[in-house]
Amino acid sequence: MSSRALQKPVRMARHLTKPALLDAKPQQREARCKIAMIGFGTVGRSVAKVLCERAGRVLLTHVCSRSVNRERVPWLPPDVRWTDDVNEVFAADVDVVVELVGGLQPAEDWIRRALESGKSVVTANKQLIAHSGPELVELAHRMGRHLCYGASVAGGIPVVSALQDGLAGDRLLKIRGILNGTCNYVLTQMESAGMSFAAAVKEAQKLGFAEADPSEDVDGLDAAAKLAILARVGLQVQLRTGDVMCRSIREIEAVDFEYAHELGCTIRQVSRAERNGDCLFASAQPALVPLSSPLARVQGSQNLVVATGEFGGDTVYSGFGAGGNPTAVAVVSDLEAIAKANGNGAGLAAAEPQPPKEISSDFASRQYVRFTVKDRPGIIAALAAVFAEHQINIDSILQKPGYEKSSLPFLIAFEACRASVLEKALEKIRPLDFLVKPPLSLPVLSEGE
Ligand SMILES: NC(=O)c1ccc[n+]([C@@H]2O[C@H](COP(=O)([O-])OP(=O)(O)OC[C@H]3O[C@@H](n4cnc5c(N)ncnc54)[C@H](OP(=O)(O)O)[C@@H]3O)[C@@H](O)[C@H]2O)c1
Repeated sequence: MSSRALQKPVRMARHLTKPALLDAKPQQREARCKIAMIGFGTVGRSVAKVLCERAGRVLLTHVCSRSVNRERVPWLPPDVRWTDDVNEVFAADVDVVVELVGGLQPAEDWIRRALESGKSVVTANKQLIAHSGPELVELAHRMGRHLCYGASVAGGIPVVSALQDGLAGDRLLKIRGILNGTCNYVLTQMESAGMSFAAAVKEAQKLGFAEADPSEDVDGLDAAAKLAILARVGLQVQLRTGDVMCRSIREIEAVDFEYAHELGCTIRQVSRAERNGDCLFASAQPALVPLSSPLARVQGSQNLVVATGEFGGDTVYSGFGAGGNPTAVAVVSDLEAIAKANGNGAGLAAAEPQPPKEISSDFASRQYVRFTVKDRPGIIAALAAVFAEHQINIDSILQKPGYEKSSLPFLIAFEACRASVLEKALEKIRPLDFLVKPPLSLPVLSEGE
């Protein structure tokens, strides 16, 4: 027996009989996991509050922010060290660094330095994880540390851990959902209050649901980043934001909701990733969804994710996808998981999956195209000829009364076809002189799509 093995029980016995530890408050007694937080904004402040107000295994010892004098709060314990020098964090005796700064740089360098200095990392930074996740996970794996990013997708909904751990016994085939609360707020306002896109965005900005520049959200980049992360943890394929085709919701008009309702549908920004052999289909774009589907029932800034497993079928996760407190819950849950796993190596960063052989956004589905035309005889015949040439079957044509003939919106719904085939037909149609604006095409999803 080695001398090391002999020493261990002696140390444990000393530890167990130390009365001060037994008398301590639960948080002090179990505070084996010391954490330093970088960034003290919306999420950072909420994380600190949650950690202060509940007993757990985690103890906040350092807060680092560039505006430390402005952001310092009186309600944190006096022994928490405040600093604006990030080097102090890497030199500190802490187990975990929590990165809540956001953006690609310097956040990426700081996460690297934390891992290289032997600390685990928790982050809510979806942009960074979608962009450099594979390299950071590889570094954490090499260092034998944890890298957790449960808060990076869908805020307070524990969907990353549900896909990664809760459904590890299944083989996931498909993930779809509403991953961007801003888009969902804008679309549901357009639907329920008949607002224009611009008015709905303005209202979302007033209520704090949209940034001053909402492009990242409304143009689909935020949802694409989140989908890339979910595909990685759930479908086991390496995907980055740029691999996910995304389309904006800017072209949606109030009339599109009227026509969608005629088809028994509404419009949502839907992110979907689906495995098909060696190919991964992925997109984040507006789509028609049946009014009876869970996606249609998501209101306001809520999020929802449906995961389809080969054996377990569908599981659904919904709740608040953003905001200080819901996001803080996800961060603290990651911290608790690390504290619980410390010592036994459970939950250490796993090896990264491989990229798929092929990535495509060319889903086959029913299609919706809204045309806005200067009315005259022969328009339907001209359009029908192009669609016939591309072997696309028209399912129905709808025209609501009450619109000016100089700018008349009408809908053609198509039977299932590949998005790329429809796009070829639309390329031929766009130059036609009766169009007042470019046609808007949207996939029409069925219940399970
Ligand atoms: N807010 C949400 O609902 C939400 C939801 C999910 C995920 N997230 C993610 O959580 C992270 C934090 O978001 P947040 O909303 O809390 O952001 P925030 O309110 O803007 O806070 C960011 C904090 O980091 C500090 N900071 C920024 N750049 C820095 C730099 N270069 N050096 C030092 N400190 C710097 C800021 O200081 P200053 O005050 O001086 O700028 C502030 O303390 C982001 O990755 C975000 O994507 C947020």
